[in-house]
Amino acid sequence: MSFLDRLTLDLPLIQAPMAGVSTPLLAARVSEAGGLGSIGVGAVDAVAARAMIAEVRERTARAFNVNLFVHQPASADPVREAKWLAFLAPVFAEYGAAPPASLREIYRSFADDPEMLAMLLEVAPPVVSFHFGLPDADVIGALRARGIYTMATATSLAEARSIAAAGVDAVVAQGIEAGGHRGVFDPDAPDDALGTVALTRLLVREASLPVVAAGGIMDGAGIAAALNLGAVAAQLGTAFVACPESAASDAYRAALAGEGGYHTVLTSLISGRPARALATRFTALGEHLAGRRSPAYPIAYDAGKALHAAAAAKGEHGFGAHWAGQGAPLARAFPAAALVRLLGEELAASRQ
Ligand SMILES: Cc1cc2nc3c(=O)[nH]c(=O)nc-3n(C[C@H](O)[C@H](O)[C@H](O)COP(=O)(O)O)c2cc1C
Repeated sequence: MSFLDRLTLDLPLIQAPMAGVSTPLLAARVSEAGGLGSIGVGAVDAVAARAMIAEVRERTARAFNVNLFVHQPASADPVREAKWLAFLAPVFAEYGAAPPASLREIYRSFADDPEMLAMLLEVAPPVVSFHFGLPDADVIGALRARGIYTMATATSLAEARSIAAAGVDAVVAQGIEAGGHRGVFDPDAPDDALGTVALTRLLVREASLPVVAAGGIMDGAGIAAALNLGAVAAQLGTAFVACPESAASDAYRAALAGEGGYHTVLTSLISGRPARALATRFTALGEHLAGRRSPAYPIAYDAGKALHAAAAAKGEHGFGAHWAGQGAPLARAFPAAALVRLLGEELAASRQ
């Protein structure tokens, strides 16, 4: 059965899960319009994730995707963390604040979250996807035995091969252009930084499972290009940040729509893992690192969020995590249903 038939989609289009930015309303509107809407629950616990899934279901009976972070749980390193806080202290001071005394691992990995697994097996969302790695094979098997379609992000052929070997149904080929966190399994390993075209083509040729292309795809022409490479669908994140149904702040929307959209930066300094964001005052700190390394993900993110809160309290929004891909200037601030309709029309026109 084809990917579209299996998930009963009208369009080969997935609205990317975006923890903290995508909302149940956004996901439901995309699914209702014929694409696959997604919610990201990597930043919340099982109780909140259950409520988000229920909200999507209240709004649509169509398929949707629930996305989880499966990072290696961080090992705390008090010396490295103290040095990082000392590096950030002068920036906190600019906003009359002090850095937190210590940092916490703010997100629990799905690799070690039995409550989340039990909840998912109970409520059985139609699709579950993984970012940053894979859960144990028996967890993947249990989700699939419940009739859940599974997907996982790969940034390389090696990651795609382990996704296929684990029995996951489809792979999301995430190119270096992509907004948000790179799904690399090991952020300390060498990264070939493959672009979406090369990675998609490589996985279509070499990995034995359906490939979804992600990274820099902003319109119907981009989706058509992904399909021409052999992808079964395209996953778009940045294109949906500007929708009124997203949770993006006004400052984030303004930055995306302005000159800032033309400049994105891949950096680990906000969260501890490589992620692509609009160039901001925060990413500019990268020029002053002088060999320093941020703490591990998501411990560094605790500091990043505290800095953003301190600066925002004084009216400076340049320390928000304004994740965006290289296609950011092509984003269109339409309601989700209208955007999906337009993407479908553009795709049809591109394929004539
Ligand atoms: C604001 C934002 C948040 C994201 N959060 C997640 C997430 O929680 N889980 C995930 O698998 N991918 C996340 N991503 C990455 C997307 O899944 C996807 O790979 C990326 O958006 C594709 O590139 P594009 O932004 O150029 O469309 C996020 C992307 C953005 C822009």
